[in-house]
Amino acid sequence: EPPGFLSGLNIVISAGPTREPLDPVRYITNRSSGKMGYALADAALSAGANVTLISGPVNLAVQAGAKLIPVETALQMYDAVMTHCPTADIYIGAAAVADYRPQQLAECKIKKGSDTSNIALVKNPDIIAAVAGLQPKPLVVGFAAETDDLENYAKNKLQTKNLDLIAANWVGQAEGGFESDRNALQVFWPGGQQILPMTDKHTLAAQLLKLIAEKLHEKNPV
Ligand code: C5P
Repeated sequence: EPPGFLSGLNIVISAGPTREPLDPVRYITNRSSGKMGYALADAALSAGANVTLISGPVNLAVQAGAKLIPVETALQMYDAVMTHCPTADIYIGAAAVADYRPQQLAECKIKKGSDTSNIALVKNPDIIAAVAGLQPKPLVVGFAAETDDLENYAKNKLQTKNLDLIAANWVGQAEGGFESDRNALQVFWPGGQQILPMTDKHTLAAQLLKLIAEKLHEKNPV
């Protein structure tokens, strides 16, 4: 693809898992390597974008030139995303945000006692839905990782979260998904869809960004 097809655009990408602490030594998290989000950040930089990468804890490096904002919890990710999205042209929510956080954060390590125990959880804010509610809003791109009924769940999220595009992938399959270097995506937007077949996450990231650039040009014709 031509270099610089995102030249001058501000892209905010969230990546990786969030970590929701229970006490000083324990947390609840999601399985996410962050690879897809970091590949998108690298590909967006190569395409000339100004990239802000808001990342949960991962073991990855991003190309020089990206503005990296490290966060841990969903609430911290929410704050960072909402700070940076009012000036963004594109928001890509590639993070595996924990749906719930423990209601209480214990100051000291929780001790074992009875044979069963419960953790009270409270819902985290839906970050991408909040971005999609901004006025004006950036082009909003979500991900949907599903173990079943991919198309229905993805289309439902597209609509209920008011997204412009959703990239859906199967998880728990032989190839692709979480820790893999490869993935395939089925991309949906209002009124259309496209399959991006199994390939390495860097190639896939560039292909997805091309599609995102097309949607942005349809939204803001010059
Ligand atoms: O509803 P579900 O979590 O499957 O939706 C996935 C999409 O929503 C992803 O783009 C994810 O980053 C985003 N999300 C979010 N905030 C949440 C939960 C999910 O931004 N609390």
